[in-house]
Amino acid sequence: MVAALRRELSNGARALPPRDDIAAHYLIDEYRLIGSLIERAVFTEDERRRASDIARRLVHASRANSEKHAGIDAFMHEYGLATDEGVILMCLAEALLRIPDTETANAFIADRLSGGAWEKHLGHSDSLLVNASTWGLLLSGRLVKLKDAKGANPWQALKRLVARSGEPTIRLAVRQAVKLLGDQFVLGSTIESALARAEALEAKGYRFSYDMLGEAARSEADAGRYYQRYVEAIDAVGAAAGPMGPGNSDAIFARPSISVKLSALHPRFEPGKERRLASELAPLILTLARAARSKGLGLTIDAEEQDRLDITLQAFGETLLSPALDGWNGLGIAVQAYGKRATPTLRWLRGLAEISHKRIPVRLVKGAYWDSEIKWAQERGLEDYPVFTRKLHTDVSYLAAMRLIVSDPSAFYPQFATHNAHTIASARVIGAQSQFEYQRLHGMGEAIYDEVQGEGAGKFGRPCRIYAPVGGHDELLGYLVRRLLENGANTSFVNRMADDETPVADIIADPVERAERERNTGAQPDLLVKPRDIFKPERVVAAGLALTEPSVRAPIISGIEKAAKTPFQCGPIVNGRETAGGDAATLLLCPHDKRERLGTLRLATPQQLEEAIASATAIAQRWDRTPADDRGCALERAADLYEQNRVALMGVLVREAGKTLEAAQAEVREAVDYLRYYAVQARRLFSEPVALRGPTGEDNTLELRGRGPFACISPWNFPLAIFTGQIAAALAAGNP
Ligand code: FAD
Ligand code: 2OP
Repeated sequence: MVAALRRELSNGARALPPRDDIAAHYLIDEYRLIGSLIERAVFTEDERRRASDIARRLVHASRANSEKHAGIDAFMHEYGLATDEGVILMCLAEALLRIPDTETANAFIADRLSGGAWEKHLGHSDSLLVNASTWGLLLSGRLVKLKDAKGANPWQALKRLVARSGEPTIRLAVRQAVKLLGDQFVLGSTIESALARAEALEAKGYRFSYDMLGEAARSEADAGRYYQRYVEAIDAVGAAAGPMGPGNSDAIFARPSISVKLSALHPRFEPGKERRLASELAPLILTLARAARSKGLGLTIDAEEQDRLDITLQAFGETLLSPALDGWNGLGIAVQAYGKRATPTLRWLRGLAEISHKRIPVRLVKGAYWDSEIKWAQERGLEDYPVFTRKLHTDVSYLAAMRLIVSDPSAFYPQFATHNAHTIASARVIGAQSQFEYQRLHGMGEAIYDEVQGEGAGKFGRPCRIYAPVGGHDELLGYLVRRLLENGANTSFVNRMADDETPVADIIADPVERAERERNTGAQPDLLVKPRDIFKPERVVAAGLALTEPSVRAPIISGIEKAAKTPFQCGPIVNGRETAGGDAATLLLCPHDKRERLGTLRLATPQQLEEAIASATAIAQRWDRTPADDRGCALERAADLYEQNRVALMGVLVREAGKTLEAAQAEVREAVDYLRYYAVQARRLFSEPVALRGPTGEDNTLELRGRGPFACISPWNFPLAIFTGQIAAALAAGNP
């Protein structure tokens, strides 16, 4: 079966268009890119006025309407990331879904809750959700305070409480608050309950896309389980929707759909595993797509982390071109406007639509992983970020993408997924002559879409699809945290709209107009500090290469392969001179493939050790007297040399220590960071004697000096980084 599917995938024979243009935009300069996007997104005066009028009306109406809805917007405003309690709540929600045992959960809750001033939030809002959760938190907050007041050990107090009530009251109260939040975002714990709950909204004209919660599968068993859920969901949704009547190939757009994250279907949905994914994941996607087709349902591939963009596009392209799906317009994909690669991705999809003679349903989103993308780029020391760093720029990018999608109805079926009034209004204006649908997330944007969805006076007469997560609380973690982060941010539309103090004009301000004004007046603010500059002015962070990108990875792999052709011969270096070493040379073999010879090793003789110690002792005083700045410069030169030779060093780490490319790069970078860090410490601590206070009139100075030769032993697991760190620290402090 799988073999047949694989054949079918490869039988496509139509080659995917190249993705060089997408790769070229990966870390492109933000202002340069935004300049070209402004040109694409620009509105006429008339369009601008219309969009602004519509957006204003939407905000007024939905503010007036908000009481009718559960009030997640009010909740997020009350407990946004700008308040201590909001941050505590997010940590709690995140952690509670992960802590498996009661004892740890209780201890954690007690620890976290005592930090918040929960009373402040009580009665602040008309929203039931805000007050129900606040009561829960207040109750537990009080309990925690009570035991603090008595000076008792919190764990003892909790234990007493548990013993008295027979139940861990605190845990229950907090879990209740977190559950309330979870329920807000999930349509049902099973596909059957979700379908039942969807009926009333479908009757109002809403369409649905069901997402079977599950992502980043860690094992084949998890992935298998998630896959099975999708198979069952397709059956259940198909049965509920009934057979698809005759119609043209666009009739599929009005039908329910299924949304899937590819990371749920394969535990190794990651860059570098392309070959495995082609043979193991691609057949699964094709099977789901065929099942969806047979039931008259659409299938949309969600957009995940930027690292997974290339493999997502590859999987999407292969499936789309499969002959088994010829003539079917149901396979869609989400595109993230916050990614610098959004526009070239759309151009690539347009090419794919042309080759396959299909219309691709494109779900245009802003992107839900912003905080993580920023952190990862910083951790990896990338030259720049793969996503925009200003909300304004994401909004401009979204509008540019919207224009591109709408301009080619033969290639795209536009799906505008947003809760932002200005973005919704812009779609209405830009897409006035086009077929498109809106999309919102379940539990969000109800008030605003009440104004949009359906027919009737003032309504847009445009369909809206609800993205409906389905699953238990144990699968909710990632999704819930993304919703909390994005809605808790004070830049987010829902958060700002829930704040009655924020003027409507600010909330609906036209992003293109603002970005254009900034550019024309030269008033563009500084961007978020680049990943390598986060420790400046002290030091620059070790440069990292994006090994996740095929275009970056390929030359490194070939560099390593080239270096592997020259076996190395290691021997002791004594007093700056390479020596032959003693005994016979030992053969060095590659730990993951013992057939591979790396080179030879000669160990030092006892006499060579004596010589090394003697020469180090002889130089000790001179090195200690070398100005700290010169010692720092020497370490920095070493750091630069490590970076220049990183491919060779990574090659040794891969082949001798058996590291993966990522781990090898992380180790070289750690070594480089040590060198630069200790260069700074050398100057800081060893440059000048420090004058001490002398209240009785005498002069005292404190001066730090080297202690003499240091011996450092390289550990097997971090042979380069830890060794370099020990040596760099010793040298910085004036020791040979
Ligand atoms: P807005 O408040 O206007 O925008 C918030 C967004 O702006 C943030 O989510 C972020 O993308 C961006 N942003 C915030 N701060 C900054 C900053 N400093 N610099 C740059 N950008 C910033 N997301 C996915 O990633 N993958 C999906 O597959 C996906 N599917 C979705 C399906 C549907 C139906 C919907 C409605 C959303 C989906 N999302 C998906 C979520 C989406 O990406 C947005 O996070 C969310 O909709 C908020 O955007 P907005 O227009 O509603 O709100
Ligand atoms: C997410 O999972 C909605 O797909 C989007 O955050």
